[in-house]
Amino acid sequence: MSIVERDTTAAAVPALPARRVHVLRAAGVSLVLVTAADGLPEVLHWGRDVGPVDVADTDELLLALGRPISPSAFDAPWPLTVLPTERDGWEGRPAIAGHVEGLPLVPRWRDVEVTSTSREAVVTADSEELALRSVFALDDAGVLRVRHTVTNRGVRAVHLQALEAVLPVGERVSEVFDLAGRWTRERTPQRRALPQGSHARESRRGRTGHDAPTLLVLGTPGFDDASGEVWAVHLAWSADSVHRHDVLAEARPVLGAGELLRAGEVVLGAGEDFTAPDAVFVWSDEGLDGMSARLHDSLRARPGHPNRPRPVVLNTWEAVYYRQELAPLVALAETAADIGVERFVLDDGWFLGRRSDDTSLGDWRVDPSVWPDGLRPLVDRVRDLGMEFGLWFEPEMVSPVSELAVAHPEWLLQRPDDDVRTWRNQYVLDMANPLARAFVLESMSAVIGEHHVDFVKWDMNRDIVHAVHAGRAGVDAHTRGVYALMDSLRARHPWLEIEACASGGGRVDLGVLERTDRVWPSDTNDAMERLAIQRWTEALLPLELIGAHVGPEVSHTTGRHLDLDFRMAVSLFGSAGLETDVTRLTAEQLDRLRAWTTLYKRVRGLLHTGRLRHLDLGDPGLATTSVVSVDRGSALVRVARTVTGPQSLAVPLRVRGLDRARRYRMAPAAGLGVPHGLDMVPPPWLGRGYLELSGAVFEDVGARLPMLAPGTAIVLEFTALD
Ligand code: GLA
Repeated sequence: MSIVERDTTAAAVPALPARRVHVLRAAGVSLVLVTAADGLPEVLHWGRDVGPVDVADTDELLLALGRPISPSAFDAPWPLTVLPTERDGWEGRPAIAGHVEGLPLVPRWRDVEVTSTSREAVVTADSEELALRSVFALDDAGVLRVRHTVTNRGVRAVHLQALEAVLPVGERVSEVFDLAGRWTRERTPQRRALPQGSHARESRRGRTGHDAPTLLVLGTPGFDDASGEVWAVHLAWSADSVHRHDVLAEARPVLGAGELLRAGEVVLGAGEDFTAPDAVFVWSDEGLDGMSARLHDSLRARPGHPNRPRPVVLNTWEAVYYRQELAPLVALAETAADIGVERFVLDDGWFLGRRSDDTSLGDWRVDPSVWPDGLRPLVDRVRDLGMEFGLWFEPEMVSPVSELAVAHPEWLLQRPDDDVRTWRNQYVLDMANPLARAFVLESMSAVIGEHHVDFVKWDMNRDIVHAVHAGRAGVDAHTRGVYALMDSLRARHPWLEIEACASGGGRVDLGVLERTDRVWPSDTNDAMERLAIQRWTEALLPLELIGAHVGPEVSHTTGRHLDLDFRMAVSLFGSAGLETDVTRLTAEQLDRLRAWTTLYKRVRGLLHTGRLRHLDLGDPGLATTSVVSVDRGSALVRVARTVTGPQSLAVPLRVRGLDRARRYRMAPAAGLGVPHGLDMVPPPWLGRGYLELSGAVFEDVGARLPMLAPGTAIVLEFTALD
């Protein structure tokens, strides 16, 4: 019988086995899981909140979404389960893979149990080889975390090759978006039509990477910063990863992520378990900014989120590099304090023999040839000046030329006889080795404890290749060791804050941010480059977690000259600081920096709690960032010009998110210069110095901007009048 001859009248309503629906709902999002007669549950829906689903609805929902049987397909309907494999009927990339004595691991799950509350579902199941525990947790911001754990319940070794979290997304998705990049150009967006097939974006750098996807987003046609439905995933993990999407003809589109496991990396003996890193899923119908708002709210609600005002930092790196001497550094600290700096961070170069990047990583003792009286004279002066003291470490690394490398060649994360390439003249220490980890912990603790160091800049300056720990591929074990080291250090020194840095922004992920307080998003302090790097770091992180320093007038990474006001405007929107030799600045420049630190201290409460948006004003040469306070009583907007635009009449600034019914005064933020602009006569309101309109007019009509020259920015402050 051909398709057209097929008799469909007999397609009576099938008898449905008793199946239960579990619905998680929060902040306008729902996840609907349905149990199966046999096997793991299926996700019927993840996206916009569908409201409560009662018992009667369950059958209707199953009828609505039950699968027909297509031609040239398996003979029975099959479920897209929470851990799909070919046993289900799923022929895309499997969510779990591996082998047991050479036989492919395609578990047949039995004894499946699902328990749920309105926020969390826990699925447990057994197969011949494994026990599974999967947790789906939806938080107050509507962000969903998925965590799978498998335990070997047999006696034969289970070689695990993949354990990935996947969820189906809306069938209207047509575009895929993620980030890429390189050193000093991190988080560069890329976007393309969503192709058919199973596509995996692999990262094999042993660290998150400068080119990490950060977020893999599937969206409805034309989604942008403000509109469209998007489904996104991020892996909370600081090493090798897979971000994947599957569009198969016979299934809903699927989005997922997991740790990339090397051959032989995870082999579970009897009773041993493996917990995959959390996959963080976000849905929004307000485009990329809506997605980011959920992530920011979620991060801000964490108990460990930094809740003290983010201090103004001065980092010594681009001020002195390796030229560390007490007198100039004391002068630097004195000038820094005078202009309002609150935290002084001594960067690379303070420890035994470290005069360049050729030597000494691992020898975490103060170098007596540079610091004959130790760090004490500097630290005391910094504290007398009322500042916190921070210090640079690169704990996971060792230089071949170091006392540590000579004493413990067996602590490297590699086979003893292997010829692993150096990178920045260094090797990786095996942080899964308890002796190596204890050594680093003790060395760091000695310095941190002696000086009550407030802040550690935790650097990590190489990719990790052919890593071996205890005779196996070692990135997973090493990364967990790094996390354990951070946890131990914080437990010993509970006051300590940590910045995650990896040659700039090579480690920006929610795994490391569970135990650190901000990231250093890039080694470029060129404010023009930073505009884009920070904008796309903001896709994942709120401003208070993103280090943003005013660098020198001429950037050492690009050679570009930029005006101080522009550099200050760009750094204002972050965890702000300075990274330049302020002792060489003029009195006038220091006054401007002092006014800027005063401004930052006044507005950081708003910037670090408010709702961030990226505004498209209709001029591709403008980059516009706004933050509206939670109560919508105030806002700060930065409009920066990167290149000239198509119009000679500047576009109006239209601001979203204000209270439409309230009136606001808009004025250039005090503490930053107002650029002259290229107009012969500036817009009239700017001549007067302020403008007062309703939120509705600011949103729908807007206020004419001055024609900014490339490399200039204006920061505008909105204050509600009623
Ligand atoms: C890395 C960091 C820089 C600086 C240097 C010091 O490149 O990203 O900020 O700390 O190391 O060597």
